[in-house]
Amino acid sequence: MGGTAEPETEPDAVRAEVLAIPLPVAELHLHIEGTLQPELIFALAERNGIELPYAGLDELRERYEFTDLQSFLDLYYANMAVLQTEQDFADMTRAYLERAAVAGVRHAEIMMDPQAHLSRGIPLETCVNGVASVLATSQEDFGISTLLIAAFLRDLPEESALGVLDGLLAMNAPIAAVGLDSAEVGNPPSKFERLYDKAREAGLRLTAHAGEEGPASYIVEALDILGVERIDHGIRCMEDPDLVERLVDARIPLTVCPLSNVRLRAVDTLADHPLPAMLAAGLNVSVNSDDPAYFGGYVDDNFAQLGMVFELSDFDKARLAANSIHSSFASEERKAELLDELNGREVTHP
Ligand code: ADE
Ligand code: ZN
Repeated sequence: MGGTAEPETEPDAVRAEVLAIPLPVAELHLHIEGTLQPELIFALAERNGIELPYAGLDELRERYEFTDLQSFLDLYYANMAVLQTEQDFADMTRAYLERAAVAGVRHAEIMMDPQAHLSRGIPLETCVNGVASVLATSQEDFGISTLLIAAFLRDLPEESALGVLDGLLAMNAPIAAVGLDSAEVGNPPSKFERLYDKAREAGLRLTAHAGEEGPASYIVEALDILGVERIDHGIRCMEDPDLVERLVDARIPLTVCPLSNVRLRAVDTLADHPLPAMLAAGLNVSVNSDDPAYFGGYVDDNFAQLGMVFELSDFDKARLAANSIHSSFASEERKAELLDELNGREVTHP
């Protein structure tokens, strides 16, 4: 016998480091344009010779005080002016994936808003190819499998969305799903019945924002009229007990974005967020970042702040992570891989 026996317990420093490793999750609700950090906005503006209406980073950051969804959308669309070339879209996508990997994201379903670029004169090929060029090797480069969701702006006419979907299909764009976003109130899901019929016929998966600012009845419409498989946000379902029962029974995924809901004043404070009640009701909820550059955090920040306010149990956190993986549009093989990784973990988000 010789040598030194291994200590039976890990040193505190090692354990602390292990505890800081976030759980593996799928991010299902993420707008790539909402990942444009102020520093990147300025860098792209300089590269493209665009004059921004802010003197500097601080002045831009001062605008990140929102009163509702529309007040955010105004800044979100304005800042897209710096996205001009495929390289710009690729750089933005790479920056997100780099940060998401640190947050524990192992699979990401990324929305982009083609109409918001077309209306600025940016061709479909530029935005789609720029983002897709980075997604094509995301698993090798960042350990994150990805897929692209074409999101349509619900405050524009359905004809516009139909034309853009035709364009995406004609160019054989690598999109896996369609979504519906932008100003919700006054633009109910029923406005987009033909769009979703067309997307379904094209073999695309279906999701839609509903019940963020809009009423619970919009969630019902998204399910009944659009036939969506997943609801983005959906927090206002809690106002309709029959709908909650239906969502629980059908295991419909709700991609919840807590920090977004606070920053856009859908809830007053994080302590008022319905996420714990949604979990307790048995809803299939996951935690997502929505527009992390604008709302103060990525998925890990959402988990960390939820953990501070609600003292979520390890079991709750693992359930949220498992829900995200089960609710993804990833292949069954990839889901099994991620669930194995999750099940092998005893420790959780800090
Ligand atoms: N586009 C980007 N973020 C959005 C959100 N939270 N709601 C609706 N549309 C959006
Ligand atoms: Zn969203």
